[in-house]
Amino acid sequence: MPSHRDLPESQITDREIYLRRRDFLRTSATAAVLASGLPALTACGTEDAVAQTKASVRGPRPLADILPAPNRFRAEDPQTPEKDATTYNNFYEMGTDKDDPARNAHRLRTEPWSVSVEGEIAKPGVIPLEDLLRPHPLEERVYRLRCVEAWSMVIPWVGVPLGDVLKRFEPTSKARYVAFETLLDPEQLPGQKRRVLEWPYREGLRIDEAMHPLTLLAVGMYGKTLPGQNGAPLRLVVPWKYGFKSIKSIVGIRLQADEPVTAWNQSAPGEYGFYANVNPEVSHPRWSQARERRIGDWRKRPTLPFNGYGDQVASLYAGMDLRRNF
Ligand code: MTE
Repeated sequence: MPSHRDLPESQITDREIYLRRRDFLRTSATAAVLASGLPALTACGTEDAVAQTKASVRGPRPLADILPAPNRFRAEDPQTPEKDATTYNNFYEMGTDKDDPARNAHRLRTEPWSVSVEGEIAKPGVIPLEDLLRPHPLEERVYRLRCVEAWSMVIPWVGVPLGDVLKRFEPTSKARYVAFETLLDPEQLPGQKRRVLEWPYREGLRIDEAMHPLTLLAVGMYGKTLPGQNGAPLRLVVPWKYGFKSIKSIVGIRLQADEPVTAWNQSAPGEYGFYANVNPEVSHPRWSQARERRIGDWRKRPTLPFNGYGDQVASLYAGMDLRRNF
C-alpha cells in the first residue's frame, strides 16, 4: 500500500433539497413495521429517477434520527477532522494514491443501490438498500480505525449492527462465514482497469465476528451519508481489525460454510491474513505494528491489542494461536 502524501482539497457540497426529496434513510416505527418482509421498492417515476441521479453526484446528505450508541461503542479519543477522514483514503478501485478516492468519487452512482444476500440463509434475495436498512434504527458509533499501514483515525460512523441485518435472512446452521463483495464496474471505479488486486475487492468474517455487536454496516459518517471515497453507500466497519477488512461499497453478502477468499490475502498471503486482528506483537513482514501515527498527530503512539477492543472481542479467539492466524 502506498505511503502518505499531502493532499489537495476536494469535497462535494451537500444539498438538503435532495434529502427531503428522497430521505431514503429516515427511519420511523411505521416504516419499520411496513418494511419487514416487504418486497423491493422499485416504483420510481422518471422525475424521481432524474432526482436520484443528480443526488448521487452531489455527495453526502445529512441523516435524520440517529441514535447515540451506548458508551462501549463510543471511543473517547478526539475525533479525526472530517476533512482528513474524507481526503486521506484507501479505496484502490478509485486509485492507489491517498487523494485519488476523493477526486474520483464523483463517478460512483450510489442510487439506486441493491445488495445481493445469498448462500446459507432461508431468505435470499437482491434487496434495495432502503429495504435492507429500513427496519433498523441508525446509530452513531465512534470507532478507532487502524490501517495495516500503521496510521489511524477516530471516526463517528452512522450505521446498523451487521448481526441484526443478517438475522433477518435466517442463517442456516451451515453458515460459518460471511463473504462480502464490492461493486465491480470499471467505469464507475476506474482503478479496476488496472490489476492492482483481483477485482472485485472481497472480504470476509467468521460468523461470530459478523454477529458481534461491534461489527457495523455503515451508511454514514459525521452525521451524513457516506462520501463515495469512504465506501458509499454501504460499507463494513470492524474496529478491532486492520482497516482493509472494512470493505467499501458492498453489493454482495454471502453466508457460507467455507472461509471466504479475500482480496489482500489472495494477493499477498504472507503479508495479510484472513483474521487481520490488530496486533502490536505481530509485525507486518515489512514494518512493525507496535506503533501507529494518529492522523493529525506528530508523535506515534503504541498500538493496542485488538485496537483497544480486547475486552469485547478477545474471547472470540480463545485458544487460537494469533501469530499463526494473523
Ligand atoms: N474497500 C475496498 N473495496 N477497496 C479498498 O481499497 N481499502 C481498505 C478498506 N476498504 C479498501 C476497502 C483499507 S486498506 C482501509 S485502511 C480502509 O478501507 C480505509 O477506509 P477509509 O478510507 O474510509 O479511511
